[in-house]
Amino acid sequence: MSAESLADAVKRIAGEVEQAIDALLPIPEGPESRLFEAMRYATLGGGKRMRGFLVIQTAGLFGVDRNCAARVAASVEMLHAYSLVHDDLPAMDDDDLRRGKPSAHKQFDEATAILAGDALQTRAFEVLAEPATHSNPEARAELVVALAHAAGARGMCGGQMIDMLAEGQQLTADEVGRLQAMKTGRLIQYSVEAGAILGRAPLHQRHLLAAYGRDVGAAFQIADDLLDVEGSAAELGKTAGKDAEQGKATMVAVLGVERARAQAEHLATQAAAHLDSFGEGADHLRRLAAFMVTRRN
Ligand code: IPE
Ligand code: IPE
Ligand code: MG
Ligand code: MG
Ligand code: MG
Repeated sequence: MSAESLADAVKRIAGEVEQAIDALLPIPEGPESRLFEAMRYATLGGGKRMRGFLVIQTAGLFGVDRNCAARVAASVEMLHAYSLVHDDLPAMDDDDLRRGKPSAHKQFDEATAILAGDALQTRAFEVLAEPATHSNPEARAELVVALAHAAGARGMCGGQMIDMLAEGQQLTADEVGRLQAMKTGRLIQYSVEAGAILGRAPLHQRHLLAAYGRDVGAAFQIADDLLDVEGSAAELGKTAGKDAEQGKATMVAVLGVERARAQAEHLATQAAAHLDSFGEGADHLRRLAAFMVTRRN
């Protein structure tokens, strides 16, 4: 078993991801530099880097080159940061606090925040397609398609659409589960699958890792819903108590706190079980499943 604790590994890899993002977003000359400032504001200096961690840990199972994995980790964190910038806009969740700082549209303005989100998304795909990400163009194309599926209308964006439509509506637990799988689960599942794509993993292992990612992603969003009820802005770095206020369709709204927590714990256990056939290289991924539910921010 690896001697490094999960917390130490998360911290170390967050540093690697931070460096990779920094290197991938240099500020150019000219008035458009404001856009780059906003992109850097939204991506650097905060965030748990869970998606980047999943990419790097999964890639590590297959001995993938560290620099290639860090680029893909940076790419998914850029895509994720774009989703947060847009999620916080007045037209969506109207949230003024993100990662302990003013949201991008508060720090800059709405037009700049929209453009920064757009450009972060484009940059995320550009990084995947660049030759430095993988020597095999087929692997790069697979990454691009997988991210497009996870982030697009059948994934994150579609989930965000349902999330907006569901405000004030009574959804069933199955409907909330589908909403959450789309808005959050798909990108987390992609992060795991991306590591397997980079590693050219055999199909049966890709399926097991995808199943792990799906269950971890579902547990992660339920934990986010629980923290919205039980956490504070100081702990979370974002406004607490907003889901109930905005009538959001969450697992907590449908099942109540206790049953939602039990569901998240069940999903975390199930997630780890998909990794039974992997060796000790997967220990951090196993531990991470439990951490998804016990985290405090
Ligand atoms: C917040 O994601 C939005 C959700 C999908 C729940 P994270 O909790 O991963 O946010 P950061 O990246 O750590 O700020
Ligand atoms: C956001 O879900 C999911 C995204 C795709 C950004 P939430 O709206 O619950 O995320 P937070 O709580 O604002 O971070
Ligand atoms: Mg939202
Ligand atoms: Mg939100
Ligand atoms: Mg939330």
